[in-house]
Amino acid sequence: MASPALICDTEQWKALQAHVGAIQKTHLRDLMADADRCKAMTAEYEGIFLDYSRQQATGETIDKLLKLAEVAKLKEKIEKMFKGEKINSTENRSVLHVALRAPRDAVINSDGVNVVPEVWSVKDKIKEFSDTFRSGSWVGATGKPLTNVVSVGIGGSFLGPLFVHTALQTDPEAAECAKGRQLRFLANVDPVDVARSIKDLDPETTLVVVVSKTFTTAETMLNARTLKEWIVSSLGPQAVAKHMIAVSTNLKLVKEFGIDPNNAFAFWDWVGGRYSVCSAVGVLPLSLQYGFPIVQKFLEGASSIDNHFYSSSFEKNIPVLLGLLSVWNVSFLGYPARAILPYSQALEKLAPHIQQLSMESNGKGVSIDGIPLPYETGEIDFGEPGTNGQHSFYQLIHQGRVIPCDFIGVVKSQQPVYLKGETVSNHDELMSNFFAQPDALAYGKTPEQLHSEKVPENLIPHKTFKGNRPSLSLLLPTLSANEVGQLLSIYEHRIAVQGFIWGINSFDQWGVELGKSLASQVRKQLHESRMEGKPVEGFNHSTSSLLARYLAVEHESFFLLGVVTAILEML
Ligand code: F6P
Repeated sequence: MASPALICDTEQWKALQAHVGAIQKTHLRDLMADADRCKAMTAEYEGIFLDYSRQQATGETIDKLLKLAEVAKLKEKIEKMFKGEKINSTENRSVLHVALRAPRDAVINSDGVNVVPEVWSVKDKIKEFSDTFRSGSWVGATGKPLTNVVSVGIGGSFLGPLFVHTALQTDPEAAECAKGRQLRFLANVDPVDVARSIKDLDPETTLVVVVSKTFTTAETMLNARTLKEWIVSSLGPQAVAKHMIAVSTNLKLVKEFGIDPNNAFAFWDWVGGRYSVCSAVGVLPLSLQYGFPIVQKFLEGASSIDNHFYSSSFEKNIPVLLGLLSVWNVSFLGYPARAILPYSQALEKLAPHIQQLSMESNGKGVSIDGIPLPYETGEIDFGEPGTNGQHSFYQLIHQGRVIPCDFIGVVKSQQPVYLKGETVSNHDELMSNFFAQPDALAYGKTPEQLHSEKVPENLIPHKTFKGNRPSLSLLLPTLSANEVGQLLSIYEHRIAVQGFIWGINSFDQWGVELGKSLASQVRKQLHESRMEGKPVEGFNHSTSSLLARYLAVEHESFFLLGVVTAILEML
């Protein structure tokens, strides 16, 4: 018998649907009273501890989810990914970000060719270049060593590297290696971002890294041209060779842009943009800032989770369990969002990275075979570091909507402080919240409890917490480069698991194209109206009036390439 086209047509999916009623009759308060259940709902790998006992799930739910994984052919799909099969079928590409962090002697084929030697040859080139750069032997146009790096890129060519950079900034070992250096990012095409990214920087001591998989992304290319102009106007055209380098799969366009091909670092079309932080996209700017050995530790962390994901049984496999639970929350319990709540300021850019990783991967409307889906895929990811989030949106999470939460904590702080006379260390203060919040969400507070506390009658409804709000806790031993890599890989694979179960292609992103092409039409109109006075034509009433209103004000700096200068002067 032919297997059903969509996962929702399988018996295993239907069994989970039928199981929802039983789960909805339970309360986390009661589920948490079962210590054996809580003990079973954990997994550990290299000191990373996952506790998912606060999910609205029982052992039976997990069994049913594992059966769903079986019928969804999860194991086979993971193997296909690791073996370089072209699982990104709409772009006819392999999905091999795992090869970017594989050891030198690994064999991973794409199109019958082992890609690992190529990966390592780029990494060796990055190591050599970053050693030269950091030693001060690489000098700029005026003979000075360069200490500042501006990485120009957007989306996957920005968010992953920003996340890792932010996480490493306060790690003592990484910080020591970065002394006297700056790494900044320029992503938004907004000239305000240009101004901010180069504020107080001198082109004489700055290296610009243009990062773009395609080297055609409108925002990145305009920002790259703007920074090129910044360098050239100050140091002359010959300075580009020493002050601009690139990362791309399109080395032809890099050359056409005017960057010396010797200073270009390649990656490959089998690396998706949002999965590219372990390619030169992240490895180059991070090595310039921290040195290659620190970045290698990050890559090894990611690789260790790749091994765990590939070889551990699903019952104890952290990314698999996380992915299955997310499918349970989205598709069966009907929760459309997920909050990412690291109790670590160093992880402040985790949620923005996961927003792209998850929503660009799994926000799809059709199956991998093009069949419209009768169920939703993907979730709305958002988050903030605790405790900041607590003083912002947690009200809604506690008493408004039900949002499954990922609590991420670290046992040992990167920057411990213990003030004499204080009850606890600063990190213990932070972590008190990490431990308390999941229980507050799970247990809530009943009117009976409030009565016993003699709370005035009129406040009882306002102070009642229904509880039964799911979360999971991920506790990392420390947060050095290794754990940052592990965390990244956990989320990458969790998101892939979700896509594999939903039967979608998590590795394309056609949904970003329509807006881009409409922007081209608007760009043309703006040019023709400003340069030739052409009236606004071909848009609907609303867009036409908005454009007319916008065009009615002359842009003073329009004819000057000095937009940046103008804004800088205002700052
Ligand atoms: O707009 C979406 C996207 O294609 C992302 O997937 C990608 O990370 C980003 O644009 C940047 O693309 P590129 O690296 O080619 O400039």
